[in-house]
Amino acid sequence: MKLVHTIEEVRDHHDATRAAGRRVGLVPTMGFLHSGHRSLMEAARADGGFVTVTIFVNPLQFGPNEDLDAYPRDLDGDLALAEAAGVSLVFAPSVKEMYPDGEVLTSVRVRGLADQLEGASRPGHFDGVATVVSKLFAIAGPCRAYFGEKDFQQLQIVTRMAGDLSIPVEVIPCPTVREANGLAKSSRNAYLSDTERDAAAVLKRALDSAVAVIEAGERSAASVELGMAQVVATEPLATLDYARVVDARTLETLDRLHGTLRLLIAARVGPARLIDNVGAVAD
Ligand code: PAF
Repeated sequence: MKLVHTIEEVRDHHDATRAAGRRVGLVPTMGFLHSGHRSLMEAARADGGFVTVTIFVNPLQFGPNEDLDAYPRDLDGDLALAEAAGVSLVFAPSVKEMYPDGEVLTSVRVRGLADQLEGASRPGHFDGVATVVSKLFAIAGPCRAYFGEKDFQQLQIVTRMAGDLSIPVEVIPCPTVREANGLAKSSRNAYLSDTERDAAAVLKRALDSAVAVIEAGERSAASVELGMAQVVATEPLATLDYARVVDARTLETLDRLHGTLRLLIAARVGPARLIDNVGAVAD
């Protein structure tokens, strides 16, 4: 496995890979890798291509009062995990390498999809994500790129962005990896104490109870959302941001539930803001 820090080095490696008839699979990350990221790398490996992982804590996607400086970083640990997962190349650029002019004048915005849910709570976040991911696609020229369903809205936005801009990449969704108590794996779980980690399992309990209610025939979005909020309210260490049930493709609100749905939840537990989601179907 090779570690590179410049765009030119990535292009050289990928040009040689493609010239040798191999496909490039890209796993974009912000580092502090865990088994959720590892599952993305394993999916890329299983597809048989040359696997490149990017590690870049992208300042564009953090708001002024968010955790950019405090965001956990561990390059040595990340390299060990990536190597064990069979990754071929790690691209860990500096901010200067990615944004040499400092100010970035170009922004990629996926209207509608980026404005609700996480986008409403974190204005500008998804513009930062879509901008850096389109830049990573332009740098790496991957055939496939692997994203976790844990960040479901991000996955929808990246998929739509690649389609709208005719970027020749297949975006591959990968299932959420969870702790034994149901908590979705996230780099931000590092902020949690053991007690808070136990408390954070309430998010998945709220999602599961909502799926059960939908399966039992409930078709009112408001009732399902209220039910999720009530489950979260049973956990004193958790403060709900939103609990929503939406159309899985458009992320639009539905009064009466029908079709393929996504249930999404965000809550603060101790110092961490956590998100999670699951799918459901209403016939
Ligand atoms: O999901 C993440 O880690 C980031 O949002 C991503 C896709 C690597 C873009 O910075």
